[in-house]
Amino acid sequence: MTILQPKKGRYQLQDYDNTKRTFEWDMVQEQFTWSTTGKINAAYECIDRHVKEGKGLKTALLYSDSHRDESYTFDEMKNATNQAAHMFRRLQVKKGDRVFIFMPRSPELYITLLGAIKVGAVVGPLFEAFMKEAVKSRLEDSEAKVIVTTNALLPRIPIHELPFLETIILIDGDETHTPPYYSFKKEMKASSDDDSAIEWMDLEDGLILHYTSGSTGKPKGVYHVHKAMVQHYQTAKWVLDLRDDDIYWCTADPGWVTGTSYGIFGPWLNGITNVIRGGRFSPDDWYKTIEKYHVTVWYSAPTAFRMLMAAPKETIEKYNLSSLRHILSVGEPLNPEVVKWGWDVFQHRIHDTWWMTETGAMLICNYLSEPIKPGSMGKPIPGIKAAIIDNEGNELPSNEMGHLAIKTGWPSQMRRIWNNEEKFSEYFSIPGWYVSGDTAYKDKDGYFWFQGRNDDVIMTAGERVGPFEIESKLVEHPAVAEAGVIGKPDDVRGHIIKAFIALKSGYEPSDELKDNIQTFIKSELAGHASPKEIEFKEKLPKTRSGKIMRRVLKAWELNEPTGDLSTIDDD
Ligand code: WT7
Repeated sequence: MTILQPKKGRYQLQDYDNTKRTFEWDMVQEQFTWSTTGKINAAYECIDRHVKEGKGLKTALLYSDSHRDESYTFDEMKNATNQAAHMFRRLQVKKGDRVFIFMPRSPELYITLLGAIKVGAVVGPLFEAFMKEAVKSRLEDSEAKVIVTTNALLPRIPIHELPFLETIILIDGDETHTPPYYSFKKEMKASSDDDSAIEWMDLEDGLILHYTSGSTGKPKGVYHVHKAMVQHYQTAKWVLDLRDDDIYWCTADPGWVTGTSYGIFGPWLNGITNVIRGGRFSPDDWYKTIEKYHVTVWYSAPTAFRMLMAAPKETIEKYNLSSLRHILSVGEPLNPEVVKWGWDVFQHRIHDTWWMTETGAMLICNYLSEPIKPGSMGKPIPGIKAAIIDNEGNELPSNEMGHLAIKTGWPSQMRRIWNNEEKFSEYFSIPGWYVSGDTAYKDKDGYFWFQGRNDDVIMTAGERVGPFEIESKLVEHPAVAEAGVIGKPDDVRGHIIKAFIALKSGYEPSDELKDNIQTFIKSELAGHASPKEIEFKEKLPKTRSGKIMRRVLKAWELNEPTGDLSTIDDD
């Protein structure tokens, strides 16, 4: 696919072009109150600050699901989060305590999360689909003191096995509850909405704990501090290009870092109207949401785009999506095929962004004002130095594959892995660099190209092959819905390439189809890149953020246990 040029004249990118040479993160801080007081609170900066600046009547939150349809002004959010803060205070929450939020998306999720931040708690959002073991290991590891949840999810919290858990707040609780159970409604009613419960924090005080899966072992508690908001704010401005009159929709759940960094902090630090849609994905529902709210800026993920792409053509034709002006993606490789589809159906480029739970915010992105090379993640944002390095930390020349690494010291960088200094230090084993665990290369124009996770790169007959490239090609085959590629140990070649493939409906597995797919890759990509083996599967194992779990494919292949599957999409 050819390079997609920006739509000239239609957008002037805020600050970005002028500042990219001279920019330093400290310049951002001047925009916030802490530059004079030295003290901050991210929840105050998200909500109260805008009220103080006269935007109290502006809509902060547009929430809907199949039962509810509500909107909240910044004024209302300020009062509700103050009440929640007073509730947490009364229930003995102190600065630094871990407060977990375990519930489906709802206004109360956002209100309690911000309320807990207001009193200085470190919040831990948990995705609603977690089952007992996954909930337990996270609450145990973090020594959570409070959990906010619903009656329906209560059976998944093994309270008696969690000695540190003191308080359970039930969103749909009632008057009959006795400690340690509390009714959210009752406690909120008893709470003042003044701002005296706000705890003033230091930049390096804890904000949020996101548990994320590594390639090995138990989920890791990635710990971020209040200072991260410097980058949430600035990247939302530059990359999401948020402006005062935007209606912004980030489709991610706050259980994942995208759903907090860009579902809460990024938009609200910029005082933007934020759309939250509860319930499950369906193409109709999503298009309807864009149409209903006149969404202008939309941040989602490749898996979602691929599912929309797979829906019948008539689905999209039913809706008026002309409000959209900017579309972005994160979480996994954005195949050129998807970018092409986006261009065809929305007449917009889909802008890929690269970052990780550990990085806290965007680092490598495609901007509205710059050309896009479909398949590339884009270029490092101002203030970020990214490089491709070898095992010793030497920078590699362009087009050579190596570790994607970032010079340490950006504002939203994780400050530790909870209770696990060893895991934390693994990321910084090469002095001066954060080593992402991704393999990539940088082209001569400075664009970064994702190749796979380090441990997934395949050496076959001396050739170095990135599975993503093959997967991307495979999904271009008319019969292939999804594909995962691994290296299968081989006596002669070191590894051979094996592809697991889920077919589109209407296609049946057959040897003929295998041949056809192999020939397709051979002719489209390279002989050595063609999978020697193909296995058809109904479904491929994926994380909640939509990444195909190659480690599970490998375990299948080698008849090994699959390890922790708590983030797998199993429905
Ligand atoms: C890993 C981090 C950051 C929010 C969602 C994922 C992969 C992320 C891209 C992209 C290719 C991507 C990387 C990274 N990844 N963005 N644009 N292109 N791969 O966060 O769950 O912490 O996963 O996601 O492999 O290391 P996460």
